[in-house]
Amino acid sequence: MNTKELEQKYELEVYPRRDIVLVRGKGARLFDDLGHEYIDCAANVGVSNIGHGHEAVAKAVYEQYLTLGNCYSMFYNPVRASLAEKLAELAPGNLNRVFFCNSGAEANEAAIKFARASTGKPEIIACMRGFHGKTMGALAATWGPEYQKPFAPMLPGLKHVPYNNFDKLEAAAGEHTAAVLLEPVQGEGGVRVGDREYFQKVRDFCSDRNILLIMDEVQTGFGRTGTLFACEQLAPPDLLCLAKSLAGGLPMGAVLCNDRISVPLKSHTSTFGGNPTACAAALASIKVIEDEDLVQNAKTLGAYFQEQLRRIESQKIREVRGLGLMIGVELKEKAGPYVQKLMDQRVIVLLAGATVIRLLPPLVISREEIDIVVTALKAVLAD
Ligand SMILES: Cc1ncc(COP(=O)(O)O)c(C=O)c1O
Repeated sequence: MNTKELEQKYELEVYPRRDIVLVRGKGARLFDDLGHEYIDCAANVGVSNIGHGHEAVAKAVYEQYLTLGNCYSMFYNPVRASLAEKLAELAPGNLNRVFFCNSGAEANEAAIKFARASTGKPEIIACMRGFHGKTMGALAATWGPEYQKPFAPMLPGLKHVPYNNFDKLEAAAGEHTAAVLLEPVQGEGGVRVGDREYFQKVRDFCSDRNILLIMDEVQTGFGRTGTLFACEQLAPPDLLCLAKSLAGGLPMGAVLCNDRISVPLKSHTSTFGGNPTACAAALASIKVIEDEDLVQNAKTLGAYFQEQLRRIESQKIREVRGLGLMIGVELKEKAGPYVQKLMDQRVIVLLAGATVIRLLPPLVISREEIDIVVTALKAVLAD
């Protein structure tokens, strides 16, 4: 059996698959088993911010695994300590404590629990079109009956309000509200950028009412939007959820907390959370982001990419929007067929809802590669 047949036979079919077998990656390029080369504008849905196959992370992982690969957090470890300190230094506001986990859903799951434990209140307000993961707690915050329905009943106490609409949020909040959970840019929900004035109003409202503000930066984190964290452009949260690109491609999540958060001993833990191999990968990846000036790259090239996309003259485009290198091209028709056509042109992109082409390239993408992507998009839209 070939790769495709083996995966189809032995794995649960929960992913809508693309019909290629990827075997290698370098920088912003991916290669399939037939030797075709693709420009990557998906970055594993925002994981591969530093590009594929970065030697600095490979070396850090190799060396750390040989030194001490795993170390349960009941024991202290210097690599974990260094990463905790580094994240506290980098985080905006006074988010100076961290809980380590393994994925984005786990980070949101933990944040929901921490908000309940810290406030003694049960209710969380999230947004329509929001995406926070698919474990039971995170799933209750994620918008969309297609995700929730097979697994009902949902965790109680979750409410959804329209994004970027302060009045609706204010009306939904009450004495039982523990937290508001927001993405700075809604990714899966169609690349919808948070409004600065809205976020600042929400911040003030939360502070006044003893409600915690949780920001889900699982997709927007680590330079993607042109600042290290997107909340730097909006408002500081009380809890900041991270994952995806945190450890340069290794599975890792984290929740950064300020001193409004306190959680009882033993109440929330994780076997792999903060393992030294992932911590070493994260430290190496953050160093790459700093050394290669990737935050600035995302800002400059994000502006260039968006400008080039806005120049495409096509009746099929409704809007180009985004922040840094997190870009959505909304079409007036279904985007799925164009995603496939772009793959035929050796460009890999993502969908965000039915009509939005989502572009999340590695932050190491070059101007020349962006030009190739824009030319390919122009060609498939002209078809
Ligand atoms: C904003 C956001 N939060 C949470 C998640 C879930 O992350 P994971 O798939 O690592 O559980 C995602 C995944 O796409 C995401 O974009």
